[in-house]
Amino acid sequence: MDDRFFFPATLRNRAPIGDVLMKILPKNGIVLEIASGSGEHGITFQKKFPNICWQTSDPDPSCRKSIKAWIDHEGLSGKMPMPLDLDVLKRPWQLSSEFKSSLRAIICINMIHISPWCCTKALFQEAETCLEKDQLLMLYGPFKISGEHISASNYNFDKTLRSQNSLWGVRDLDDISEIAKTHKLEMVEKIIMPANNLSVIFQR
Ligand SMILES: C[S@@+](CC[C@H](N)C(=O)[O-])C[C@H]1O[C@@H](n2cnc3c(N)ncnc32)[C@H](O)[C@@H]1O
Repeated sequence: MDDRFFFPATLRNRAPIGDVLMKILPKNGIVLEIASGSGEHGITFQKKFPNICWQTSDPDPSCRKSIKAWIDHEGLSGKMPMPLDLDVLKRPWQLSSEFKSSLRAIICINMIHISPWCCTKALFQEAETCLEKDQLLMLYGPFKISGEHISASNYNFDKTLRSQNSLWGVRDLDDISEIAKTHKLEMVEKIIMPANNLSVIFQR
């Protein structure tokens, strides 16, 4: 049986996200991907950055099965680690001190609008403790800026999200930046991406 999930958005956004990662990622060490979903980003970026150890994670067992299946399918088993069962809310994250000492960056793609706000807070709380000075946390997804949506499609997407779950929704970068500051992370760059998304880089 094939456990792989196919998330269409990952086909569209993997190349532009990869271009951003090319500019910001260190040469080696561990990159921790939060909310890896299908695992398609994980295997794509592991192949693109072979000197990095790309650590996927997801709290959903079916996603972790998909990630494992993608790793096997791409012949990457033994070359990249299997996914971690990591729920941002289950703090402190169970990461060994050896893992933390090799950790160089945290990447979180398309999670914070599809989870309650407490997940965003938890992500920054843990990034504060897991990252060392100058290391980066990158978020990718749709965002509001100063309370405003940046496109009509984001406005409609936000409405749809909130109708599915009242705790979900497109987040405002100003609010995120405030949370970041309280956890010693500074927003250093925001990059306009295709389809009204942003890559937002925070530095510890
Ligand atoms: C829309 S999917 C995005 C998956 C993938 N990053 C992508 O871009 O295709 C949202 C993901 O967030 C994960 N997620 C939801 N709540 C989470 C939490 N509390 N901690 C970590 N991941 C969570 C879900 O399991 C799901 O895989």
